Amino acid sequence: MERLKVAVLISGRGSNLRALMKACADPEYPAEIVVVISNRREALGFARATRSRTPCKLVPHLDRWLFATEAAKILQEYKTDLVALAGFMRILDSAFVEKWRDRMLNIHPSLLPAFPGLHAQRDALAAGVRFSGCTVHFVRPEVDSGPIVAQGIVPVHPNDDERRLSDRILQLEHELYPEAIRLFAEGRLRVVDEKVEVADWKPPAVSAINPEGRTVISRISPDVPARKVAN
Ligand code: GRF
Repeated sequence: MERLKVAVLISGRGSNLRALMKACADPEYPAEIVVVISNRREALGFARATRSRTPCKLVPHLDRWLFATEAAKILQEYKTDLVALAGFMRILDSAFVEKWRDRMLNIHPSLLPAFPGLHAQRDALAAGVRFSGCTVHFVRPEVDSGPIVAQGIVPVHPNDDERRLSDRILQLEHELYPEAIRLFAEGRLRVVDEKVEVADWKPPAVSAINPEGRTVISRISPDVPARKVAN
């Protein structure tokens, strides 16, 4: 099986990178990570990628154009099919983004278009929302915008602080991102009028109310079986 060649761009901890590496370790998974690009040498994810056998490149983000020029060379060298931003904390050059239009994904820790930006979980708590979650979307030049591929939801608990909510969302990110990339790799995503059509998609049959006195059922949309999450 010819696997989709994915380049992962990181700036930090790299827990989504780890989740993607784990998914790719399964020979049945339709994608492989061909290169990791970090703009920071001290990024934990960079150390993680260096320890693994995945090629890993450091490209300091001196300015947008220089980064884009260097990254473009690497993506070409590794015959990249898809770019996955995973905690990449710099704004990308808009020509670079356009070149990878509908072939570059990002994961964000909120239910976009709510709470874009650097403090999504803090903003969600401040707004008093009852659910939050994560979004995988195609990248457009405006920060945290672009056609939505998949979303997952988590409840917000009354005693949540930013750390607790972030951890809950992050766990779901680790499931959502590999599934979204699988959909891409299987050729099931099509962007029509800036919305993503998913082929052979069975929408979730559950909904949830918060607050309620019962266990909330969470379900990643699309395609992942429902599972119970702890209250
Ligand atoms: C994640 O919360 C992701 O949604 C956001 O940045 C964070 C990266 O975490 N874009 P990690 O580096 O993958 O652990």
